Amino acid sequence: MAAPFVLVLPDETIAGYYTLSSTSVQLSELPAQIVRKLPRYPLVPATLLGRLAVDRRQQGKGYGRFLLADALYRASRSEVASFAVIVDAKDEGARRFYELESFLPLLDQPTKLFRPMADIRRLFE
Ligand SMILES: CC(C)(COP(=O)(O)OP(=O)(O)OC[C@H]1O[C@@H](n2cnc3c(N)ncnc32)[C@H](O)[C@@H]1OP(=O)(O)O)[C@@H](O)C(=O)NCCC(=O)NCCS
Repeated sequence: MAAPFVLVLPDETIAGYYTLSSTSVQLSELPAQIVRKLPRYPLVPATLLGRLAVDRRQQGKGYGRFLLADALYRASRSEVASFAVIVDAKDEGARRFYELESFLPLLDQPTKLFRPMADIRRLFE
């Protein structure tokens, strides 16, 4: 159950896509300086950015960064409460891609990264 978003080029080929859905994160997975600012619920609501991918023939042209910016913008505009966008980096390359965009690893789960929504909202002010 996820909302898909597809980037279609002017020649009608698909350059890439991503999905957005709701998820939750355990407070114990977050660094102490983030937890301090959150209510003491065992789980906090978040937005899952899933399956971000760019067609191999179209990689390295900025479409990945464009899709990520589009996803962060949509997530930041949602009126549903969410403290962060979470991504699951399927390999080392994907992890580096997200780290370049200021995502931080969840504790004990280095393939899962997050970026706080307050930080994302500031991007689009
Ligand atoms: C990761 C992915 C989405 C990047 O898409 P892209 O269109 O090639 O990326 P962009 O051209 O927008 O590049 C944005 C920045 O990320 C960097 N980057 C992209 N792929 C990278 C990789 N595998 N490792 C390290 N850096 C990477 C680029 O160098 C660029 O940085 P720069 O502007 O400083 O040079 C794409 O490679 C992909 O679809 N990979 C397979 C699926 C995947 O790994 N998805 C991630 C979620 S699991």
